[in-house]
Amino acid sequence: MTTPRIRLSGLRKTFGGTVALHDVSLDLHAGEVHCLAGENGAGKSTLIRVLTGALRRDAGEYRVDGRPMPMAVGPAAARAAGIGAVYQELSLLPDLSVAENLLIGGLPARAGVVDRRRMRTEAARKLERVGLDLNPLTPVAELSAATRQLVEIARVLGDDPRVVIFDEPTTALSGAEAKALLRRITALREEGVAVLYVSHRLEEMFEIGDRVTVLRDGTVTRAGALREFTEDSLIAAMVGRDVEELYPAAAGRSERTAPLLRVRGLRPRGSAHTVDLDVRAGEIVGVAGLLGAGRSELLRAIFGADPPVSGTVEVDGKRVPSGRPREAVRSGIGLLSEDRKELGLLPELSVRENVSVASLPAIASRGLLSRRRESERVDEVLDGLRLRAGSYDQPVSTLSGGNQQKVLLARWLVTDVRVLLFDEPTKGVDVGAKAELYTLIGDLASRGFAIVVVSSYLPELLGLVDRIVVLRRGAVVGDVPAAEATEESLLTLASTGRSDGTGRS
Ligand SMILES: Nc1ncnc2c1ncn2[C@@H]1O[C@H](COP(=O)(O)OP(=O)(O)OP(=O)(O)O)[C@@H](O)[C@H]1O
Ligand SMILES: [Mg+2]
Repeated sequence: MTTPRIRLSGLRKTFGGTVALHDVSLDLHAGEVHCLAGENGAGKSTLIRVLTGALRRDAGEYRVDGRPMPMAVGPAAARAAGIGAVYQELSLLPDLSVAENLLIGGLPARAGVVDRRRMRTEAARKLERVGLDLNPLTPVAELSAATRQLVEIARVLGDDPRVVIFDEPTTALSGAEAKALLRRITALREEGVAVLYVSHRLEEMFEIGDRVTVLRDGTVTRAGALREFTEDSLIAAMVGRDVEELYPAAAGRSERTAPLLRVRGLRPRGSAHTVDLDVRAGEIVGVAGLLGAGRSELLRAIFGADPPVSGTVEVDGKRVPSGRPREAVRSGIGLLSEDRKELGLLPELSVRENVSVASLPAIASRGLLSRRRESERVDEVLDGLRLRAGSYDQPVSTLSGGNQQKVLLARWLVTDVRVLLFDEPTKGVDVGAKAELYTLIGDLASRGFAIVVVSSYLPELLGLVDRIVVLRRGAVVGDVPAAEATEESLLTLASTGRSDGTGRS
């Protein structure tokens, strides 16, 4: 057997009282895709940050190509050893251009002056590696989440690393882009690169993975060739229990009531089209579309996070003031945005505070007793989401990515909103918690919420929602009952704007 590119043994990492990694061993070989699986908070990102030198390990051995790495590795040393990583939380600087981000640290300069032309061609070359045709001078702030993700990947691949680590790279990507990325990763493997791959999408692991190491609570529970696993056995290794029904039954949701959310002639900023949308109480409406179809923009316009150019939004017949999120919340609309850093978490505050922050005024005016009840309610919701944290009093910034997502969701669940707009609600959420989340969304619908879900993950839309609205370039090109849609029919609609009947079963 050849020397593994990376060998970890007896790895340990703690954060205060939390043991994030315990006695973890793992070999990563050249020319393999090695998947790292586990629930939210299992320790995957921590392991990655130890590998890239972003975190110092407490104990254990870390070898690269047989050479032992010092306890304090440091990012520069890891990079010099040929290790590149695409992190779960993107690290691009939004105010700089794509080119600047791609070449940071190594801007081509002649006599101390940045060589703009070389910068551009070099950046373009890096972008080409991920199939992005993009003006390198575009500021990163103007890019969609998916494009940013690809730029991030381009940056890492540009260094020609011999080990590439991906921490949930497809969460922001739509089906087609995710597929393209998986192909790219397979090509990397063929080139002899060692790939460590983290995803909560099991089918991706089965598609590209050679081997898998499963973490549970920081410990390796199983490791082996992926072909020795079935979906069920992999889930069982991750979750420690069986997850039977992923999607809730769409039972007894109301059909004939007037729409609770009524959107008319809404034109999001930057869009050439207006959108009408009705969602009844008890209904879950999915929004599908390719990247850039304007799905997030639609949700943000409804909520007022980006003031729309024109159009009206009503909740229960009452007009919601346009472009003012605070009024939207007061009118009963909540938006769970795709980017948890942005509309989001207050990193210094505790988990519990981050949940109750939206309902604070209400709690305060209701006095002490109800404050206690509110806090119980917060805990109840968090428990229900299986939030993994040492304590609900710890800063939210110390939670794993998927658990942070759950905190944002919990925030809306304790307020009095009746219309919930979800942008990629299960982004980064593990399979066990996904099932919980779907059940929860189903329950909310049965309780009379009107729910809109944007998801790039078509199986999720098909399994969860009642009706799917398809957007293409900002315009509604389809509105189909989920029961009559297939992945193919949605893709056809999303890409051509026509339902030509192919693929409809
Ligand atoms: N800076 C920190 N301070 C305290 N605890 C931390 C810190 N970073 C991570 N942890 C804890 O370590 C554990 C592992 O977290 P990690 O981010 O590695 O999980 P993960 O497997 O990547 O989860 P996810 O799938 O949600 O991304 C969690 O319990 C988390 O709360
Ligand atoms: Mg993580």
